[in-house]
Amino acid sequence: MPDKQQTLVLLKPDALQRDLLGEIIRRFEMKGLKIVGLKFIRLTDEMLDEHYSHLTSKSFFASLKQFMMQTPVVGMVLEGYDAVSEIRKVVGSTNPREADAGTIRADFSMNMPSNLIHASDSPESAAVEIKRFFKDGELFTYEKITDRYIFGEGV
Ligand code: PPS
Repeated sequence: MPDKQQTLVLLKPDALQRDLLGEIIRRFEMKGLKIVGLKFIRLTDEMLDEHYSHLTSKSFFASLKQFMMQTPVVGMVLEGYDAVSEIRKVVGSTNPREADAGTIRADFSMNMPSNLIHASDSPESAAVEIKRFFKDGELFTYEKITDRYIFGEGV
């Protein structure tokens, strides 16, 4: 049986400004990823220093942080089999012009930093990032009547 995982996604200010929040969430839903957390987050300088601590030496570090603070972002925790790698397939490569056609970034974006979405890159970073942005009481476990079709259990 594959591994049921949770992963963190941030819908960036360009997704909000371009009215793409609904379209992006729809694609995650259509894939069968279950939304277990969903909220607006106003990112602060401190939160971004921590979240992007591996990028401090990059020339784009300051402008990336400034971009991420332009509007609230939408934080999501999504659950599914191999959710970390599956969602990155749906999202596409970091550089939208290198992303495969049919992925969200290829279909709706053109250049960084406006690549619409952050998605955790490993189960280990997903665990850290979920804790960074969500409290335990903000995550919900529930059953959907479609679970057995989506997850292929007992069909
Ligand atoms: S990734 O997604 O972590 O594998 O990719 P990486 O190349 O390491 O990029 C890390 C984050 O930096 C953003 N990025 C940029 N922002 C602005 N300008 C430029 N040139 C640029 N290059 C990379 C990239 O979108 C990643 O942000 P997140 O929020 O993790 O998607």
